[in-house]
Amino acid sequence: FIPPSSSGAGAGVTAKDELGNDILASEFLGKHPAGDRALAQGLKGDPTYVIVTEDEEIASYGLNAVCTHLGCVVPWNASEGKFICPCHGSQYNAEGKVVRGPAPLSLALVNSDVNEDGNIVFTPWKDTDFRTNEEPWWV
Ligand code: FES
Repeated sequence: FIPPSSSGAGAGVTAKDELGNDILASEFLGKHPAGDRALAQGLKGDPTYVIVTEDEEIASYGLNAVCTHLGCVVPWNASEGKFICPCHGSQYNAEGKVVRGPAPLSLALVNSDVNEDGNIVFTPWKDTDFRTNEEPWWV
């Protein structure tokens, strides 16, 4: 088995749990209800949200949890339906689009897929940011 992360530039990484183990989509979906967002270790080791859609599937995008203000990890607030940064109060909607500063930019997107082994895989997002219709600021 060759992990996708070893295949060079532009390659993906499997999402990892807090122990560094690959996350199986089926197990993740067993623990997280529709609409949930939960942290995994993603590209470059960045804390990255895996998103469960309303249809109880893994969403095709994940969100880098690093606040675009000064880099705190932004927790998901399920009751508010937003990400709210504990450091200086920036807010991002459920898709990670910034809705309150001081953060200047939305949370960075990654592609999220499930590979043939059933693991969640993140790859770099280089397409238009679907939340702003702009080029991705993180590329
Ligand atoms: Fe998140 Fe400042 S680091 S609001």
